[in-house]
Amino acid sequence: MSNENESNSLGRMCGWESGPDPSLHSHFLSQCLQLLIEKAVFGGTDRSTKVVDWVDPEDLKEKLDLALEDKGVTQADLLRRLNDVVKYSVKTGHPYFINQLFSSIDVYGLAGQWVTDALNPSVYTYEVAPVFTLMEIEVLKVMAKFVGYDQHDGLFSPGGSMSNMYGMLLARYYRFPQVKKRGVSGLGRLVAFSSIDAHYSIAKAAMTMGLGADNVVLVNVDDEGRMDVNHLKKCIAKSRQEGGIPFMVSATEGTTVLGAYDPIMAIADVCQAEGLWLHCDAAWGGGALISNKHKHKLTGIHRADSITWNPHKMLASPQQCSVFLTKHTGLLKDCNSASASYLFQKDKFYDTVYDTGDKHLQCGRRADVLKFWTMWKAKGTEGLEKHIDQLFDMAHLFTETIRKREGFRLLMEPQCTNVCFWYEPPSLRSERSNPKYNMLLNAVAPKIKERMVKSGSMMVTYQPLRSNPNFFRLVLQNSAVNKDDIKYFVDQIEELGKDL
Ligand SMILES: Cc1ncc(COP(=O)(O)O)c(C=O)c1O
Repeated sequence: MSNENESNSLGRMCGWESGPDPSLHSHFLSQCLQLLIEKAVFGGTDRSTKVVDWVDPEDLKEKLDLALEDKGVTQADLLRRLNDVVKYSVKTGHPYFINQLFSSIDVYGLAGQWVTDALNPSVYTYEVAPVFTLMEIEVLKVMAKFVGYDQHDGLFSPGGSMSNMYGMLLARYYRFPQVKKRGVSGLGRLVAFSSIDAHYSIAKAAMTMGLGADNVVLVNVDDEGRMDVNHLKKCIAKSRQEGGIPFMVSATEGTTVLGAYDPIMAIADVCQAEGLWLHCDAAWGGGALISNKHKHKLTGIHRADSITWNPHKMLASPQQCSVFLTKHTGLLKDCNSASASYLFQKDKFYDTVYDTGDKHLQCGRRADVLKFWTMWKAKGTEGLEKHIDQLFDMAHLFTETIRKREGFRLLMEPQCTNVCFWYEPPSLRSERSNPKYNMLLNAVAPKIKERMVKSGSMMVTYQPLRSNPNFFRLVLQNSAVNKDDIKYFVDQIEELGKDL
């Protein structure tokens, strides 16, 4: 295509035709790609740029031109709008975005994501997704090996919350297969157990499945945030006395806030003795399984009946990428299948064992596997292991740095790559015996956060927990974060908070 035609194409109205036409769309798509590469990928990870260009909601509405109108716009106009989308979005791939349990841009994962979107598959039958079906089987097999399963089944789901619900669904079906046809009404009051620091998706799964959130008993944790197994035993006994029917325990391997690893072996012993399903929510902390140095944190995970493990968290795959694994082969299909005859015909010309869709709750399903497979293929298992080791090394460096820096105080020794800490401004350091001290400290993190977001200098989250006033939680899953960045984080927080 000549340059003249290319610029002409951008001046054109986008038009109503949706089919790709090289003379109309090739230049537009190249320009979009260039925008993404320059401004989202490289611009968005450049340390000299802001993590966020903060604008208050009412002002942002003005800037974005969100209104949908009768007439379409030109390609050039559309590009300007997309440019604004990039400009005003948070750059979650930026090394200074340490705010959540996902971050960074893996270029190979991104390439896989782009290929997925260009092909727009739906992974329910081999017929429409031959490559992705086989790829899912392969990746699940390798992940199951890291868990230590000698037999397995599994699936990719749209997030850890859904994977946790798959765990609860299987646990219930395993014990009460009649639930599939007859429903929950005759089952009695089923009770699940997780810790007070478990992710809220466990409660949501219980709400969705008709168990009721009150029937998720929250077991105490020890001083380090790990499930207290003696209390678990007491809770199970109490529940039985009260007429409940305990059916599963969900252990968390890498809790959302503290990064604690629940003791799997001891919990598995309890589950075995009590006849309960053991689900391990390793959505966050499961990445450590890839590291020879850190996998001991999940010792015993092969004893779990089911597991949630999100590559989009610690392994830094692009979102969304969550894996559910179980040692019970065939159970997912038995539990979830509806055998729609328009899709899963039995008289197909190929082996329909490869039509894996019916074990999922979804019908149409995005191929989340490709981005993760692309990363893994590019870096090898050794590359993934180096990534995990780097995260733990940097979390350790941050911990040691703040241990020595006046004004910083650790909430507890980190077990994962979450580091929880307070920053105490000079004005508060002499106020520790003041009865209002906790109230004053509680206000510090939100104020520092406001300042960092408004200046775009970094993003780190904070929260209260039980009686602890607001504290910062730095979470590392971007292995581009280096020693200089660690120093920058500490200096920034001090700089933004020293006058408070
Ligand atoms: C321990 C744990 N489990 C499950 C989830 C839910 O995962 P998702 O956000 O993919 O639904 C989270 C999210 O942060 C989590 O920390």
